[in-house]
Amino acid sequence: MGCNEFRGISKTASFTGTGLLCLSLVGASAVGADPLASNNGFYPDPGAYSGPFNIANLDYPDAPPANHWMPGGGVVTGKLTQDTALDYMNALKVYLTPSMHALIDTPQEWDARAAGWYDMVWLGAGDSGDPTSGREAIMNTYGGQIVPSDSWSLPYRPTTQWMQNYGVIYYDALAASMLNEVWADVYEPDLGKLDFPAGSIVVKAEAATVQLDEWHSVLNGAAEWQVFRPTTEAQKAHESDPSQPLVNVVQTIYPLQLAIKVKDPVAAPETGWVYMAFVYDAGTKAATPWGRFVPAGAMWGNDPDSAIRPDGRPASGDLTETWVNPDAPPFFPETLGWGGRLAAPMDVAVRHDVILPSGKRVTGAEGFRASSCLSCHGTAEYPFTINLYPSPNRTFPPDDTAFPMFEPGSAKWAEWFQNRSGNVPQSGNIGGYALDYDLSTMFALGASGAAIGNAKAGYAFDRFHVHH
Ligand code: HEC
Repeated sequence: MGCNEFRGISKTASFTGTGLLCLSLVGASAVGADPLASNNGFYPDPGAYSGPFNIANLDYPDAPPANHWMPGGGVVTGKLTQDTALDYMNALKVYLTPSMHALIDTPQEWDARAAGWYDMVWLGAGDSGDPTSGREAIMNTYGGQIVPSDSWSLPYRPTTQWMQNYGVIYYDALAASMLNEVWADVYEPDLGKLDFPAGSIVVKAEAATVQLDEWHSVLNGAAEWQVFRPTTEAQKAHESDPSQPLVNVVQTIYPLQLAIKVKDPVAAPETGWVYMAFVYDAGTKAATPWGRFVPAGAMWGNDPDSAIRPDGRPASGDLTETWVNPDAPPFFPETLGWGGRLAAPMDVAVRHDVILPSGKRVTGAEGFRASSCLSCHGTAEYPFTINLYPSPNRTFPPDDTAFPMFEPGSAKWAEWFQNRSGNVPQSGNIGGYALDYDLSTMFALGASGAAIGNAKAGYAFDRFHVHH
């Protein structure tokens, strides 16, 4: 079964495509799954691939590092604004360049250990036999949802029917020193320790499966990664006819987006987090692909004041807690979230078949802006009780299939667009425990809970019987 359909979830429960990567709520679900597996165990033949393998770094540090990002970044002494967001992002990129540029520019030399970046426990192993699940062996990426290429309008539309992304997720040493405490016992995580220290950075870098000649205007000159996964076409074929095999092949893919979050209570006093997107800009003059990643946008709150307006925008028209770079590549605004709140091209904040309580059904390439970075991540809770999208449904159909949602601007809908501190759950009324906006942690808890037969994980699990 393909990632798009089941996102690596066990055969009986499905947590389907949020667009994001193929992490599973109960994933690695084979009982006895190795919490410290680097990958899903599928390796290419030496004839098909002779390069290095990117091994997960799960060797979390015992103590916080002496040097880390300082809240405010040396740029601001208070909450970010439209005027300061670009400076903040530029400073962050300068800070990240020494340790991160190799991930993009010389991926075959990338060594997470040497660079001081860390992976998440419990998410490497796959769902047994499913080559779309877990992390793959070559680049150590998770699989992402398959989205229709017409999500992009001309001339920025790939010539393929579908596109997919694969991404790596890395925690910096400060964040990992906290993971070390949460996961000191991998079978019994200590959620009381789950509070990212101020200055923590988490990076998700995602690459597109479409090829240079299929998306030339966007990918020209992009870096290359290799991954070992079934092709997108094979996954679509398997989705409509499960007898079609899913066979891993070595694919070349192209890094397009850096989604980065920084725990920064100075720059983001209400939520504690600044969420940012850098995208590859083929038109920028810079010597390397890493250099051509440009600041595209930042958000430090959900603009809750306008969450009960149908269009999601303040009466004045301008959001105050999202900044979008007017110089970002022209395709970037097409995939922004609700009311223009931040979301990046591979976050699938725009859905393509939504049913509203009014009876309205939104279909078509233009799509329905349903989410934002902080809205989606704000649902990170244990157990997993609420949808990542503003929906009464507890599961996620693949994009392009019917998805019921609340009415934009309604009180229910607005629950997804508040500013909460990372220790305040969105659904505290039904017992959710807030996970400080970290969705990978939510999936790791699901996987660990399932592996050890934790009844609380089962509580979430029971609500996920949806098939397509
Ligand atoms: C519709 C939901 C959704 C939106 C919108 C979204 N994300 Fe995520 N994000 C996820 C999920 C789910 C994961 C877990 C890994 C995966 O499946 O990609 C994730 C993982 C991440 C991670 C790794 C740490 C973690 O929390 O797991 C970072 C960093 C991240 N996202 C940043 C961003 C940024 C920055 C934006 C906006 C530009 C954004 N995300 C928008 C759902 C979303």
